[in-house]
Formats: sequence, C-alpha cells, structure tokens
Amino acid sequence: MSVQRRFAKFLGLAAVGAISIGLAACSSGGDTGSDADSGELTTVGFVAVGPEGAWREANETNVQDTFTKEAGFDLKYAPATNLDQKSQIDAFTSFVDEGVDVILLSATEASGWEDSLERAQEAEIPVILLDRGIEPDDTSLYVTRIAPDNVEVAKEVGAWAVEQFPDGGNYITLEGPAGVGVVNERNEGWNESVEGSDLVQVAAQTANWSAEEGKSVTETLLKANGNDIQLIFAQNDEMGLGAAQAVEEAGLEPGVDVKIATIDGTMAAMEALADGQLSYVHEYNPLFGETALDVVNKTLDGETVESYIIVPSEAFDSAEAAQAVLADRKY
Ligand code: AHR
Repeated sequence: MSVQRRFAKFLGLAAVGAISIGLAACSSGGDTGSDADSGELTTVGFVAVGPEGAWREANETNVQDTFTKEAGFDLKYAPATNLDQKSQIDAFTSFVDEGVDVILLSATEASGWEDSLERAQEAEIPVILLDRGIEPDDTSLYVTRIAPDNVEVAKEVGAWAVEQFPDGGNYITLEGPAGVGVVNERNEGWNESVEGSDLVQVAAQTANWSAEEGKSVTETLLKANGNDIQLIFAQNDEMGLGAAQAVEEAGLEPGVDVKIATIDGTMAAMEALADGQLSYVHEYNPLFGETALDVVNKTLDGETVESYIIVPSEAFDSAEAAQAVLADRKY
C-alpha cells in the first residue's frame, strides 16, 4: 500500500476529511489500487460464499474480474467450505493476521460476526460487506454494505402480487436458508406490501436457494393443499424454477393456474419469464464489482462513504419485458 494510504489508515479512516483531501490531491493512486510511484498492489481479502447458484457465480466472478492486478489489486479469494460460517471466520481471521489492506465480506450467516469485525477494527483493516448484511447491524463495525435493497425489491414483488390478485388467493413462500439476512429482509418487504390484502399465506418453507428443493417442497405443499395454490413467492430464481416444474407435474399450468414470482434476474429465470413459466422476476443486480472497487479506493484514501450503498435493480413483469432484454443480459 502507498505511503499516502498508510498515513490515511494510521489517522483512522473515518475521521480524516481535511487530511484526506490533501492526500487524495497528491495521491497518484486515486483511481487505481496501486500507487503509481511504488507500484505496490492493494491487498484485498475476499471472504466469499462460494458455489451457491447462478446469482452467486455472477457476483463473485464480477468481483474477481474487477479487482485485477492490472487495476492495482491482489485479490485473495476465500470461498466458504460448503457454505459453512466457521470456514469464513477462519479465512477472515487469516486475512486480519496477514494484514491485508481491506476485507470484502459476503456472509453465509448474518449473526456471529462481532468478534471478527472488532479484530479487523483493532487492526485498522476496513471491512466492506457485499450483498449480505449482519445481525445485529452495527454500522460502526464496517465501512459500508453494497447491495440492492432487499426490502424494497420484495416490496415491489408483493405490490405486483396484490395487483395480480385483487380478489385474493392462496400463496406459498419458498425462502432461502434460515439465518441468512436477506431472507428476513425479503420477508419484511413482501409482508409490508401484502398486509391488508386478500392474499393468504398457506405455507412458508425454506428450499435453501435450490431448484431441486424448490421442486420437492412445492410438490409437497401442492399435495397438502389440494393444489389450491394460486401464487408462489420464491425468494430466488432457482427455487422458483423448481416450483414451476412441480406445478407442471401436478397437472397445473405455470403462469395460468399458478403465478410464480422470483428474485435475482439470472438468465435461466429471464428465459422462463419469456416462456411464461414464471410471471414476474425482480433483479437483484449482482454486478457491483466496479462500485466495490470505487468504495475500496475511496476508503483507503481516507474518504468517508455512505453506510449502505444501494445497487439499482429492475423488475420484469411480462414475457415481452424479458424478451426485450434477453439478448443483452450480462448474467
Ligand atoms: O444473498 C443473495 C441471494 O443469495 C440470492 O438471491 C440467491 O440466489 C443467492 O444464493
């Protein structure tokens, strides 16, 4: 890390407004990770989720493709072992002990991060949350969270559902894994929109972000409710695609007998929306590597940033809307 950045770190990142203006003015590394004079790379520890589905693949590939050596960074990618939080905490601890310049964290679990974040703070290593939040949310323990707004996204999904079913209907919710922050945020937004409507939740169950479990859980719930389900809110694309298979195998027509709404906006879901298998897909835009790089540079140059940086995401509510964008989709 360049001299200017070490000086900014030493002074404490969040409190050097005037000093950082001076440093930023003379820093030659303003728009890249390395300092042009020294050529040193900025070391970034990425405590990642690892293999989990199409959204995660798009997100983590985008981050790795952004923090390149050419851009001035040495990105150390540490995916979790089988989504296990302990493996993430171990990687986090190693990055602190190694003295990386900054840590990016996509948490497999929302709780249990206090000790790790306090250790990074004591070592004056800034932590930036990607996608997933922490619970309890103590913004003094990290620089910022970069993610689309799950509550707002799910509110929009719920508003679409209420509009589609003015006379109400029975629905099921397919949730992500218990303990993941975005699951609670998506339930919060959805519930805010459907409260007071005639939509009735007959079941909510995790299908662990997976198409296979989305199909098996939906099969079970359709049988348990005599197929009297008109709507499925799947908290991610894979679970919704699995649900569509179960609906068809139950002799019902997706999009006609049962409308399915999902979150993520990955290619397979957009193709299913274009084909009428899904009825609504809300993006949860994973391509925020450039935003993360900008935030890392600003942070290491002593600038302060917003505590939550919201990544814009679009909604698609028809086959035509999906067909219009399929050719240009980047994930
Ligand atoms: O945290 C984001 C969620 O994690 C995505 O919606 C899901 O597909 C991923 O596994």
